[in-house]
Amino acid sequence: MLDSLGMFTTLLDSSNQIKAGKEIAKDALVKHKKFDVGNIENAENIVVAGMGGSGLIGDLISAVGAFDIELPIHILKSSSLPAFVSQKTLFLAVSFSGNTAETLIATEEAKNRGASIVSISTGGRLKELSKNQGFLSIEINPEVSSPIPMPRAGFFQMAAAALTFLTEVNLYKNNHLEKAVPHISKRVEELATERSSAYNLAKDLGGTIPLISAASGIGAVAARRLKNQINENSKTPAFFSEVPEAFHNELVGWGVQGDVTRQVFSLVTLRSDFEPSGFNLDKAIEVATEMQEEVVSNCFKVSAEGSTALCQLFDLVVFGDFVSLYLADLLGVDPGPIPAVDELKSRI
Ligand code: F6R
Repeated sequence: MLDSLGMFTTLLDSSNQIKAGKEIAKDALVKHKKFDVGNIENAENIVVAGMGGSGLIGDLISAVGAFDIELPIHILKSSSLPAFVSQKTLFLAVSFSGNTAETLIATEEAKNRGASIVSISTGGRLKELSKNQGFLSIEINPEVSSPIPMPRAGFFQMAAAALTFLTEVNLYKNNHLEKAVPHISKRVEELATERSSAYNLAKDLGGTIPLISAASGIGAVAARRLKNQINENSKTPAFFSEVPEAFHNELVGWGVQGDVTRQVFSLVTLRSDFEPSGFNLDKAIEVATEMQEEVVSNCFKVSAEGSTALCQLFDLVVFGDFVSLYLADLLGVDPGPIPAVDELKSRI
């Protein structure tokens, strides 16, 4: 397998990343005696800022936190803060490199508004700013048992660090990270085997463009992750959409170009046991898939495994990460480097 940066080996280490993320968040709180937890206790809202692979942590906190974080959570994937950010805001700045412009600008602005700031990074300017300003700085360890070559490959450590921090400050109570460790370790073993279900999906996608569909909440986070991983690891287009919203608009768009879309798209539906309730989503998905079968090359269904919402979200993420790496292999591309992002960053 062509994999110059070792993305595959890092994925095999996902459960160790969860353990490491828990430790670094706890350590940071112990070490940072000056951190004013009092402000956090008075927080009225949470903003999670970050871009790309790091930005996914905001989506994760919002989806998993929906079950028991009582404060409103705003996901920020830009440099501009919403007007409500104030001294009553807990601002989580997540940047693996610590050097992403949008996140740094937003963090500076949050500081000017008097928000309580916590950063998660391996270093860079975000760590420097945190040190200078006395923010709580949770430092990602880029060398767990397997080195983390790229921000998106550090997802599990960043996720575990963020959730552990929120638990330690009593904002997130039902933390199921402990259960996720053995589950993910087992799933990684299964999916790494030859001809695993993830490999088969990558193969069956053939040359088509996957449209990943999932229900709002944890499914939609996994769908976004899979789309991003196919883009970045497999260097191919992929799109995602969220249901039931897509049943009110996107579904109509499959109406008249069937001859074209049938050559181009595959539909991949991610399901979990933690989907919006009180509406017959099962039936709606069944009917919509029937309607779309005619106008896409193939329809696939992936069902999450695991006993908690967090386990199922991690389960879908691990599954999707394997699919994207197998797809990269089948296409003969190197999954690690992302020259297009590098070029854009260097030209602005
Ligand atoms: C690279 C990746 C990117 C970065 C993004 C922000 O692996 O996934 O999407 O995450 O460019 O960079 P960081 O995470 O360093 O703030």
